[in-house]
Amino acid sequence: MRSLAIASGKGGVGKTSFVINLALALVQANKRVLIFDADLGLANVDVMLGISPKFDIRYVLNGELSLKDIIYNTEYKFDIIPAGSGVSELTQLSPEQKLLLKAQMEEAFKNYDFLLFDSSAGISDNVLFFMVLAGERIVICTPEPTSIADAYALIKVAHKKHNLKDFYLVVNMINNEAEGKRIYQQLMYVLERFLPDIKLSYLGGLVYDECVKKAVKSQIPYLSLCSEHPISARVREISYKLLRYKSKDSEGLEEFLERLINF
Ligand SMILES: Nc1ncnc2c1ncn2[C@@H]1O[C@H](COP(=O)(O)OP(=O)(O)O)[C@@H](O)[C@H]1O
Ligand SMILES: [Mg+2]
Repeated sequence: MRSLAIASGKGGVGKTSFVINLALALVQANKRVLIFDADLGLANVDVMLGISPKFDIRYVLNGELSLKDIIYNTEYKFDIIPAGSGVSELTQLSPEQKLLLKAQMEEAFKNYDFLLFDSSAGISDNVLFFMVLAGERIVICTPEPTSIADAYALIKVAHKKHNLKDFYLVVNMINNEAEGKRIYQQLMYVLERFLPDIKLSYLGGLVYDECVKKAVKSQIPYLSLCSEHPISARVREISYKLLRYKSKDSEGLEEFLERLINF
């Protein structure tokens, strides 16, 4: 199982829409995908898909249900763990809770190829928790200078506090390909000067497309609603790119569970 945290620093940059559509692209490539909705905010995965799961991670943390029981199967063939307000408790688990969760994750996650974490905005301990927990991290920004600055700040804090070194970049809401590449180079320039240990790999750019808004409003992934649009092709390309990157040590379920226990 590969685990990917999607984070941004700044909010409203398109994390949740990207996670949903990446999940669908991976499903279309015959992968088994689970989204862990780790966002405390309002625009959550369930709202974007027009579903209302009955349970969330709180039921697991207080022992009423096991993790397996709260997994929601969507019509798009990927599954969701709704975290809801229980997310904030995850960074303060007792050793007993960690062991319980470890056993339940082992059971629940063994059936998946990909686990995608949709994080909150900001650089809180909570966001960093999921970035550390995941074997791989995708940082999203838009061409707005504030968003680029926040993406840099997120990478910097994740590196200084938790010694994370590898990140992927996706630039969203661009006008054209060249703009996305320029922003990647801009970030690389600053990183090489101030944080030379960091490896940032460019996954791709997603154009601004009104279809994304239409898809959010109609609660359907744009990959399904506007499958012919360039943005959908781009998300599919990103999924292929991820599939082409070979497994690292950080990718197994065992390593994932170890990171949970050690956090
Ligand atoms: N490529 C895009 N083109 C146009 N609108 C977009 C694009 N990506 C995201 N949006 C819009 O931006 C808003 C925020 O997206 P969302 O995925 O909720 O961001 P986040 O999860 O980072 O807060 C949504 O209304 C969404 O429709
Ligand atoms: Mg979101």
